[in-house]
Amino acid sequence: MKIILILFVLAVSGVSGMAQTSVMNTYKDKQLPIEKRVKDLLSRMTIEEKAGQLNQLTGGAFTGPALNDAGQQAKMKAVADGQIGSMLNVNGVAETKAIQTVAVEKSRLGIPLLFAYDVIHGYKTIFPIPLAEACSWNIAQVEKNAGVAAKEAAASGIHWTFAPMCDLSNDPRWGRVMEGIGEDPWYGGVLSAARVKGFQGNLSENNILACVKHFAAYGLAESGREYNITDVSRSVLWNKYLPPYEAAVKAGAHTVMNGFNTLDGVPVSASKYLVTDVLKKKWNFKGFLVSDWNSFGEMINWGYATDEEDVALKAFKAGSMIDMESKIMLKYIPGLVKKGRITMAELDAAVGGILTAKFRLGLFDDPYKYNSEEREKNNILSESNRKEALAAAQESIVLLKNDKAILPLSTSQKVALIGVLADSKDDMYDFWIGKGDAQQAVSLREGFVNANITHGFAKGYQMDGVANIVLVDEAVTAAKNADIAVVNIGLSGKMAGEDRSLANPVVPQNQIDLLKALKALGKPVVAVVSAGRPLILTEVLPYVDAVVYSWILGVESGNAIAGVLTGKVNPSGKTVMSFPVAVGQIPVYYNHYNTGRPTATDGAGNWYSRYRDIPNEPLFPFGYGLSYTTFEYKNISLSSDKINKNASLSVTVEVTNTGNTDGKEVVQLYIRDITASIIRPVKELKAFEKVLLKKGETKKIQFILTAKELSFYNETGDAVIESGKFEVFVGGNSKDVLAKGFEVL
Ligand code: NOJ
Repeated sequence: MKIILILFVLAVSGVSGMAQTSVMNTYKDKQLPIEKRVKDLLSRMTIEEKAGQLNQLTGGAFTGPALNDAGQQAKMKAVADGQIGSMLNVNGVAETKAIQTVAVEKSRLGIPLLFAYDVIHGYKTIFPIPLAEACSWNIAQVEKNAGVAAKEAAASGIHWTFAPMCDLSNDPRWGRVMEGIGEDPWYGGVLSAARVKGFQGNLSENNILACVKHFAAYGLAESGREYNITDVSRSVLWNKYLPPYEAAVKAGAHTVMNGFNTLDGVPVSASKYLVTDVLKKKWNFKGFLVSDWNSFGEMINWGYATDEEDVALKAFKAGSMIDMESKIMLKYIPGLVKKGRITMAELDAAVGGILTAKFRLGLFDDPYKYNSEEREKNNILSESNRKEALAAAQESIVLLKNDKAILPLSTSQKVALIGVLADSKDDMYDFWIGKGDAQQAVSLREGFVNANITHGFAKGYQMDGVANIVLVDEAVTAAKNADIAVVNIGLSGKMAGEDRSLANPVVPQNQIDLLKALKALGKPVVAVVSAGRPLILTEVLPYVDAVVYSWILGVESGNAIAGVLTGKVNPSGKTVMSFPVAVGQIPVYYNHYNTGRPTATDGAGNWYSRYRDIPNEPLFPFGYGLSYTTFEYKNISLSSDKINKNASLSVTVEVTNTGNTDGKEVVQLYIRDITASIIRPVKELKAFEKVLLKKGETKKIQFILTAKELSFYNETGDAVIESGKFEVFVGGNSKDVLAKGFEVL
């Protein structure tokens, strides 16, 4: 595309459409406040040019079916004609600059374009997938990771990322859980806010605009099937699904993306309730919105709009704005304004938000601010960026099982490293890898070499799931020649992400059969599990002594996992999604309700809320993760057992490292509002602290609870705190906790 672009730029050189008027007191005047500049610019724009700002096209066809447009040159002509306001999937200083030159030099008003890209967990330096990163509970690191990603993307001409994804989900069948925040609304908010801050910083040339997506409740896609309907009561919507988006918006996110789903029977792109009433009015969001890829156009398939004009009207009237790839706004907004169905003031309000962001980024004053060859050369995949990726990956790993302290490996042990995944660089990456290059990734096998682990290697299984006796025999031989087997099982990296729904999120049978054969040798077996979601491990656990859940860790994968296996790094990750026992248990989550019949002891005999064939409890609960040391919780104490609604409560607990090595612990605080005007979950996370404890050390941890933590949302989105009894719990996961009661007066 580069050559075509450059030819095009040459063809138009010397032809400047920019008005030769004085800069003073116009949108070009740097001295004027942004508001005035936007107003002036709007007054000069035609309706068609305004509609152009609502039109976003891809530079390629990366994340959706390619639309049948007449090619890149036609797109460049549209840029020159002011018919495109932003583009996605264009990267690199040279390409973005070439296209920006057309927008600035050739279009009538010289309005710069925004270049957007899915910078989900890194641009070139690929970090752990967001779900894994969430398991680190290291919020400073999370913010730093987003900052590094932003700096690299910004050095490559990108102004805007389509992240963070704030969709809470309880469903590991949904491939996109990899991209999100897990199952907790409060922690989801903390993560999302940190990601927004990391991306946006102070909007310097090293930052990019964040985009809160997919608004809203997309993580509820029915049956975990991508692009499906969602349906939820207002009270659960407000208390469970909206808080992460709200936290991200309040953290200052400049943009929001509509989801693909419907809610209450309405495609969310056309939901006046969500976009206007909640986002703009209740949360006072002043930025701009973008649709998801053709989510406007899809309203016709949903059976919600009769034709494209109907789509444009419904989306616009709901408060939605930029149209990613369906070209409907460009085509129909001018006519709708001329027919009086949309007012000029409404159109100006929408376009004004987009222009404001362009001014804030400084693009009117320097359209090439993000086009520095020098930054592109120096800022991308630097050693210091890789170091951050390693730190992030090490803390994201969750140790789920470690019988008889089989891990860490000792230096004298000879290891059989088994598994195709262990020798794969590609599978250290997923679907959303920005401009990441798998060749830069460290496989587990390479990690073993780098860590000087004495080992042999065998493939063990085929990735396509087909049984292969020869591979199993080779693995058994390798294990016989070793003291311990480390088996990398799981799913291919490309099975994580958009359009990767699975009805059975399990470890493939051929891998289980391999584990069985290895277990029969009587030697210890360690499973390292690679996957972008919590897989059902019920069939795996009987055949392994230890489970290291490594998710998808990005560019430093192998080094991070080897570090944990050898004990150079003491694992400190904790799950942010419950691990189901069986598919039929999904959705299973810690913050469930009590039910009218929670147990057999409530007088209801055997007729209580349970499964007859499996337990209610997940295999591993939210917040769970082991360490090579042990922690003891003692002496939970409250500053008072009664507080007024506007008072605060101090909760302290003593945590001791009772093992033989230093370690980090995520101390978690949950509450339960026992009786309220709407039922409340049995536990809700409200605070945590990740602390480093030297062996033998005790620390007193203090948390402060205020009305904010003790309140819930009513159906109109107002936070309310009610008098009554509460419980507070503190522990190292959502299940094993110390408890204390108190009352709000
Ligand atoms: C579709 C995805 O749902 C969305 O998350 C992404 O940002 C866009 N495509 C653009 O690539």
